[in-house]
Amino acid sequence: MAHSETLSKAKSIINGDKSRNEKLQAICELLDNDIDVFNWTGFYLVAEDEENMLELGPYVGEETDHTRIPFGKGICGQAADTLKTFVVQDVNKADNYLACSIHVKSEIVVPIMKEDQFVGELDIDSNTKDAITQDLQKLCEDICKELSAIF
Ligand code: SME
Repeated sequence: MAHSETLSKAKSIINGDKSRNEKLQAICELLDNDIDVFNWTGFYLVAEDEENMLELGPYVGEETDHTRIPFGKGICGQAADTLKTFVVQDVNKADNYLACSIHVKSEIVVPIMKEDQFVGELDIDSNTKDAITQDLQKLCEDICKELSAIF
């Protein structure tokens, strides 16, 4: 499935007239509702008060202890360092990983770029192993490209 309907709904949210945080929250809710295998969906944004630090933004799912993550640490921190999408199909096999919940089995993190500047990232956890298909990766990357417009 190409998930084109979810992408269109994301575009409408992004082009709407809500605040940036409300839009990010609405994107979390959209992905959480539309994609069954997504169990925690959130954004980490570049912290304004500290260099090379991510801070938790809007999310849907269980509360997490990881409200601030230094660049380089965990999957989120590695995506911030390399500016590349990280897909982990089995978190038990990842060595630089920060566990949020014992139920999580796979994860995707996609950087959000504003021109050549890194501004934040979309982080999604799944309780299913091997859940991140190429179509889901593309959906997340397409949404992050669109999100560049609101930063
Ligand atoms: N698992 C992430 C930490 C963030 S939680 O998934 C919400 C990581 O390894 O960076």
